[in-house]
Amino acid sequence: MSWTKSILVTGGAGFIGSHVIRRLISKYPNYRIVNFDKLTYAGNLENLKDIDHMDNYVFCKGDICDPTSIQDAFNKYEITDVIHLAAESHVDRSISGPMEFVITNVVGTVNLLNVAKSSWKVYSNHIFYHISTDEVYGSLGEEGLFEETTPYDPRSPYSASKASSDHFVRAYHHTYGLQVKLSNCSNNYGSHQFPEKLIPLMIHNVLNNKELPVYGDGKNIRDWLWVVDHAIAIDEIFHNGKNGETYNIGGLNEWTNIELVKTICSLLDKKLDRPADSSEKLITYVKDRAGHDRRYAIDASKIENDLGWKPSITFEEGLSKTIDWYLANSAWIENVTSGEYRNYYQQQYEERG
Ligand code: NAD
Ligand code: TYD
Repeated sequence: MSWTKSILVTGGAGFIGSHVIRRLISKYPNYRIVNFDKLTYAGNLENLKDIDHMDNYVFCKGDICDPTSIQDAFNKYEITDVIHLAAESHVDRSISGPMEFVITNVVGTVNLLNVAKSSWKVYSNHIFYHISTDEVYGSLGEEGLFEETTPYDPRSPYSASKASSDHFVRAYHHTYGLQVKLSNCSNNYGSHQFPEKLIPLMIHNVLNNKELPVYGDGKNIRDWLWVVDHAIAIDEIFHNGKNGETYNIGGLNEWTNIELVKTICSLLDKKLDRPADSSEKLITYVKDRAGHDRRYAIDASKIENDLGWKPSITFEEGLSKTIDWYLANSAWIENVTSGEYRNYYQQQYEERG
């Protein structure tokens, strides 16, 4: 088979990466999709077990911090494009161990850029697409939205590492002429998200009758987007976005954490046929996250006007589907939260009190 593209998707065994791969594999049978992933605690090949038999899918275990393993993958699979999602992605972990974030998110990204720069001959034939976060823009007050032109103001080690990697991607465009695209997205939710992030953690804890730890006063605000809509946006930007440009992606769907947690509780009570308020009783206010950003919200008018993208489903539908998926996949949760994660979670839990 001669492939029209051979795309290296880094971090494809993670939450968003697995949704991106699922979409590309089925929509583009002429593309070979190479899932390049180190399989950290956050990466799980089970996330792709429904498509891993497809002819145009290959898994390649590798580490973006090891330039040789990237180069080998480029050579072996004649990589034409990169969609880069591999990262350390959890803010709380970045607070307790920032260096891992510098190494994976910054050094790993520069390693990938270097291999792309030296392997590709005519840069206009190849795309290096970096998936990033709205957290690079900092924290908003009660008003306003992040735009593509909002100055960077990262405030956690995670967002500082992502901001740095964004800058390197742009620097390789301006300095060496690589064709690059970037997108900065708000908080994703959906199936296969590791249960250390807010929504799956709360679902998991309700199911296990454990406390629901809400940081600080619970009034921090996040804009939530269904992960499948993020994958659709990534497909759109990869194919139709402009060289060197950045696109903000968001759901225009702001929630305070406490309202969101209460909504999850009430949906779970209904779905599990439990008395109303039984899950809400598990809510426990705990010590705030250090440097906790107050509010994120995205102006997604550029991607809507230029590429015709907007979220395909409402939050109510997406949240309900998500909860149904976790209810139907308790074995997945058991599997991914065993071992190393259990120890980490226990330690975090004890520290917050
Ligand atoms: P995730 O933590 O679920 O998955 C990360 C994946 O990267 C895992 O499969 C892991 O094994 C892999 N990985 C980590 N280090 C690696 C290395 N050194 N080499 C190769 N693979 C490695 O993350 P996610 O939530 O799916 O996020 C994916 C990307 O999207 C990240 O770059 C993140 O910054 C960005 N993003 C996430 C969100 C969100 O809400 N989750 C929002 C906007 C942007
Ligand atoms: P999270 O899912 O970690 O995403 P991010 O920090 O990247 O936005 O957290 C979402 C929000 O929920 C954030 O304001 C922190 C808060 N939060 C809690 O209140 N309790 C928790 O146990 C977690 C994990 C997060």
